[in-house]
Amino acid sequence: MIKTTVKDQDFLKHKTDSLIVHCLEEKKPKGILKDLDRILNRSITSAMKNKRFEGKLNQSLLLNSRAALEAENVLLVGLGKAADLTGDRICQASGTAAKRAENTKCKKVSIYMQDGALEKAMRSVKAKSCEDPACLVAQGCYLALYHFDHYKTNDGDDPPSRVEEIVLLAPDKKRSASMVDAVDYARKISAAVCLARDLGSHPSNTVTPTYLANEAKKTARKNGMTCKILQKKDMEKLGMGSFLGVAKGAHEPPAFIVLEYTAGPKSLAPIVIVGKGITFDTGGISLKPAGGMDEMKMDMSGGAVTLATLQAAASLKLPVNLVGLIPATENMPGGSAIKPGDILTSMSGKTIEVLNTDAEGRLVLADALSYAQRYKPEAVIDLATLTGAVVVALGSHASAVIGNDADLTEKLIKSGTASGERLWELPLWEEYEKSVKSNIADLKNIASAGVGAGTITGAAFLKPFAGDQPWCHIDIAGTSWYSDNRPLTPKGSSGFGVRLLINFLEEEIKSRKKKKR
Ligand code: BES
Ligand code: ZN
Ligand code: ZN
Repeated sequence: MIKTTVKDQDFLKHKTDSLIVHCLEEKKPKGILKDLDRILNRSITSAMKNKRFEGKLNQSLLLNSRAALEAENVLLVGLGKAADLTGDRICQASGTAAKRAENTKCKKVSIYMQDGALEKAMRSVKAKSCEDPACLVAQGCYLALYHFDHYKTNDGDDPPSRVEEIVLLAPDKKRSASMVDAVDYARKISAAVCLARDLGSHPSNTVTPTYLANEAKKTARKNGMTCKILQKKDMEKLGMGSFLGVAKGAHEPPAFIVLEYTAGPKSLAPIVIVGKGITFDTGGISLKPAGGMDEMKMDMSGGAVTLATLQAAASLKLPVNLVGLIPATENMPGGSAIKPGDILTSMSGKTIEVLNTDAEGRLVLADALSYAQRYKPEAVIDLATLTGAVVVALGSHASAVIGNDADLTEKLIKSGTASGERLWELPLWEEYEKSVKSNIADLKNIASAGVGAGTITGAAFLKPFAGDQPWCHIDIAGTSWYSDNRPLTPKGSSGFGVRLLINFLEEEIKSRKKKKR
């Protein structure tokens, strides 16, 4: 990750390619902007007058300093109105600025963190357990400056310009110390998000179930977790007929990944995170159309987020008990693949009529949810790129959340809002559950024709496997992969869910402490 330092030096004397200054939406330059405006020949006043820059969210203005200060450029970035400021907005604006600096070939970027009024506004939004806003600023930079260039060779083209160094300018020694901790925190979260992004970006001939299992083992070893990989014969013993049904068509061996991180009170049941790990979804015998099928390499994003969240929690040493379950396989057509109409017996004993082999995510999750019950968990949260229907309902700006427990759902929605990874609840009324009952088996894996509500019926299928403990299903099919550049996420795999879940875990820890008092 990019070299980052914290310095308590006067910004006027600080040598850098680009000095980034966050600004609230104002009519006239205020605070530091007033000083900068004077130094820069009133160019900020003039930009504001012409509405070239008003401090609106993610608006930016690059000014060459013409040697009026040591920094070569001053880069203003808008935070929007003070009343609307959120942690996510600070993060976004920082990312926007860092990316603009990179696009203008700056190698060293420095961020001004010395303004009293702005600091107050930033602090008022409380950055999770890490209270210094520098944490949001650094996270914004790291996330926005993510690149996936693993497969690019030096084939003669000039290599693209990259930011190589970030400096956070602190007002004094005391603040420097808290900013150093904040940067460390930001690094750990961002590293986890980038791990999830990488896993989603790699093609399926790299990220196979075995590759995912090896990554999980590596992450566990580095972060003091345990990792167990169940192989086909182990799953057969457990009777995971639903998961193994999906794996039948693939030559790549499946893997059921079990991660455990126990740093919470012994008396406390774990929170289980389950992530769909389809390393490629062809649709199986119910084959998908060719256009855009390549994107189905990201159908293991739920699994990637599960692994990344456990890595983040462990590297931040959060005092929680967590289990991560990733049922990983390809979904392939072929001579031994399951066919429409086939009936599978799941680990729970329930039988499933497979009417569409492309609705495979729910089949692998069913057995994973059954497996989760052996932990008598406090809560189960599954993340899955489950349905195209969620893209119709919510597009790519929110994931759907559906569950059996109002309290858990509400907590997750709150964490979604706080982290900027938003959730929107869909209902799970009885009528939907009826639509996945089969005539000849217990359940069928798609709803009866004409029912619609594809995202809800997907969740309705999962519900019987989740048992009685609080459970929420998060459908990330629309949010795991972006087709446009975003302030914090370049086009492609997003890692959506990691920051949401870490926020959720931190809130759980806080509420535990409050209850104790
Ligand atoms: N992996 C897909 C869902 C998906 C769609 C993920 C778009 C990412 C982007 C899933 O396995 C699937 O194919 N679902 C079917 C279910 C249907 C057959 C009931 C779908 O949504 O079409
Ligand atoms: Zn599918
Ligand atoms: Zn799928």
